[in-house]
Amino acid sequence: MEFPAHIIEQCQTDLKGHQLEGFLTGAGNEVADIMFIGEAPGEKEAETGEPFCGRSGNVLDSYLTALGLARKDVYITSAVRSRPFKWGERRPNGTPVMKKINRKPTEKELFAHAALLDYQIAEVRPRIIVCLGDVALKRLLGKTAALSAMHGKSHYSHVQKREKDTYQWSAETYAVFGLYHPAAVFYNPSIRKVIDEDLHALKKLIESM
Ligand code: URA
Repeated sequence: MEFPAHIIEQCQTDLKGHQLEGFLTGAGNEVADIMFIGEAPGEKEAETGEPFCGRSGNVLDSYLTALGLARKDVYITSAVRSRPFKWGERRPNGTPVMKKINRKPTEKELFAHAALLDYQIAEVRPRIIVCLGDVALKRLLGKTAALSAMHGKSHYSHVQKREKDTYQWSAETYAVFGLYHPAAVFYNPSIRKVIDEDLHALKKLIESM
C-alpha cells in the first residue's frame, strides 16, 4: 500500500537517530474483512520487506490454515514498520561477535508509526482486527488492555489513533480480537493449546460475520 508522503516524512522525522532498520508497508488483500497486526518486523522481514517471512511466519501460516484462510484473503501489517534492534554480543562459534538483536519497540516508536497504521485501517476498513500479541493490542485499545486477560475473545471497540501529539479514539468501532503472537510458541511451546482454542473462537466469529 502506498502512503501519503506527509505521513512517511513525519515518521522519518520522529524516528531520526533510533536504532531501526528496513521498512515494511504491509501485505495482502487491501479490502480484506480481516486485518492482522503484529508488533514489528524481525531480521528476515527487514531484509526482504515481506511481513512474517521468518520463523514466526510459519506459525502465522498455521493460524491461517486453522482459520481456513490464506495470506491473500487477509491484510497483514504491524504496529511498527522497521526492525527495532540493539547491539549485543553473541558467540556463535565461541568467539564473541557484536550482532544486531531484536528488541521491543518503544512507546515513542509506536507513536511515530501510528499514523501509518491508522491510514491502513482507514483504507482497508476491516470488520475484524486480530492483534498478534500484547504490543498490538495495547496500541489499539490503550495501555490498560492486556492480552493475558483479553486473548481469545472479540472486543467491540473504538481504537486509538494518532491526532497531532496524542492518541484519540476512532469514531468507528471494530471487532478487535487478541491472539498470542506467533513467536510466543518458541518461548513457551505449551501455549499452542491455548492458541488453538483461541483460533477456534476466532473461526466462529469469522463465520458469524
Ligand atoms: N513479528 C511481527 O510482528 N511482524 C513480522 O513481520 C515478523 C515478526
